[in-house]
Amino acid sequence: EKGTFPFYMLKEISEQPAVMRRLVSRYVDDAGTPQFDSAMLSALAAADRLYIVAAGTSYHAGLVGQNLFEHLAGVPTEAYLASEFGYHQPLLSAKPMFIFLTQSGETADIRQVLVNVKQAGYPSLTLTNVITSTLAREADYAVELGAGPEIAVASTKAYTAQVAVEALLAKALGQHKALPLAAAFDVAHQLSLAATGQQALIDQQDKLHELATEMFAQTRNAFFIGRGTDYYVSLEAALKLKEISYVQAEGFAAGELKHGTIALIEQDTPVVAFITDPITAARTRSNAEEVEARGAKVLRIASAALAEPGDQLIVDDLDPMLTPLLTIIPGQLLAYFTSLDRGYDVDRPRNLAKSVTVE
Ligand code: M6R
Repeated sequence: EKGTFPFYMLKEISEQPAVMRRLVSRYVDDAGTPQFDSAMLSALAAADRLYIVAAGTSYHAGLVGQNLFEHLAGVPTEAYLASEFGYHQPLLSAKPMFIFLTQSGETADIRQVLVNVKQAGYPSLTLTNVITSTLAREADYAVELGAGPEIAVASTKAYTAQVAVEALLAKALGQHKALPLAAAFDVAHQLSLAATGQQALIDQQDKLHELATEMFAQTRNAFFIGRGTDYYVSLEAALKLKEISYVQAEGFAAGELKHGTIALIEQDTPVVAFITDPITAARTRSNAEEVEARGAKVLRIASAALAEPGDQLIVDDLDPMLTPLLTIIPGQLLAYFTSLDRGYDVDRPRNLAKSVTVE
């Protein structure tokens, strides 16, 4: 089933543009409005706060979702780690609604939260790639991510599908609430730009292989930095590198460097900087310069409108809330080629299972 691909992970990375296009044709009508169950939209509209609960890569997609729901649907939204939320529940708002974000729909940490939420009588929605899964069945509502089966342990196309479905849902909710910002946000166009931009990056995989070798062949550790959504994608890019190449990688908010992490920078420490957020691009650039001045090997990944001479990789322009749909592609490919170069089984990293059904 891998066809001509050496590993499922590369196949699944390559499927992402098609997933974006499929999601548009599946959920968006001719007028550009995403269509979802109206009872579900009413339940979401009645909430005064959305709690996104997830684990691992799905949690990172949830972090990206915060902005989308706040900006397009005008509702305060926060992403939580299921394994934390389950035992140390924050003070809830008066009318909370829970969104469980999960590729498999079987993650035990999330199920534990769902059981409590149901007992308390709060409404819930599961966004999942497996619509027949436990978490899809047990929540009040379920929406399918439509990424198609994901076999590699490292999640790739489920992440971008989660971000895309969050955008579709946030726009639908904003329009349900008659918010002008939501009406003005052309989600179908953005996702089609994302598909084109992803393909352009996938087409540069030979270059990404070279960059992976240059950056990570010899290293034991690596850093990914950015601000805003670039920070969230840093967390996900670092997780990808950790889980399949066993390089100790850390993703963090670029502004936090000087508060501690910069002490770790030595000659040739690899640092990947994501620069797609117009508000903070200049600041992230100066953080990248600071580490470079201390000997770090810096790879700058910037969006076209913000690019400067010397940036090694340019991604297409996209709404800043959605740039992780593009910037994670080099994140995934850098991890893939590093694992490949080191001779590991890319699809089946040590100590990990595809779905984590124990707490
Ligand atoms: O099936 P889920 O989305 O609930 O799984 C959550 C995590 O276990 C999962 O994303 C994990 O972090 C992946 N291996 C990351 O690539």
